[in-house]
Amino acid sequence: MPDRAHAVALLEEWVKNEGLQNHMYAVEAAVRHYARLRGEDEDVWGLAGLLHDLDWEKFPDNHPVPAVNHLRKFGYPEIVLQAILAHRSDFTGVEPQSELDKVLVACDELSGIVFACCLVRPNGIDDLKPKSVVKKLKDRTFAAGVSREEVAHGVELVGLERSEHIQNVIDGLRGIAEQLGIRAQDRAG
Ligand SMILES: [Fe+2]
Ligand SMILES: [Fe+2]
Repeated sequence: MPDRAHAVALLEEWVKNEGLQNHMYAVEAAVRHYARLRGEDEDVWGLAGLLHDLDWEKFPDNHPVPAVNHLRKFGYPEIVLQAILAHRSDFTGVEPQSELDKVLVACDELSGIVFACCLVRPNGIDDLKPKSVVKKLKDRTFAAGVSREEVAHGVELVGLERSEHIQNVIDGLRGIAEQLGIRAQDRAG
């Protein structure tokens, strides 16, 4: 199985937009956190999070099919490829079935809004609570690009209370908060 360094090299080759790179690292961190919580293989699950939007910049019209075809050549695990296909079931027709498929969908949109919340808070992620995120979810003008329907669908798929899922995503993102520049010290000034 290709390792994380291989995946990061692909990401850097295909994705030039820093915002999209950050999104992919954020989703990786959230999915890895779920893998730890559920006793799954963190390295395998992490690859799905890290690579799920690999071709979004290069091939937006066919996302994520070209990425999956490319990854298959390198021998990425089928469970990773399935999850990447299932995160865009509206386009691929591949519905989320495995636990990884469901967790990936659930972390994808939500990590976007958690990240956006951090950017408008003086203390960033340091003291972020689920209830602040819920408040922002209700304000549809905030991070308007994040589909509230997808967030709700993700919560359903992951099978937890919404606030518990939000807490898990916050905990996941905390692990790479420095890299994402969302800690209090990064927000100062
Ligand atoms: Fe995507
Ligand atoms: Fe995404």
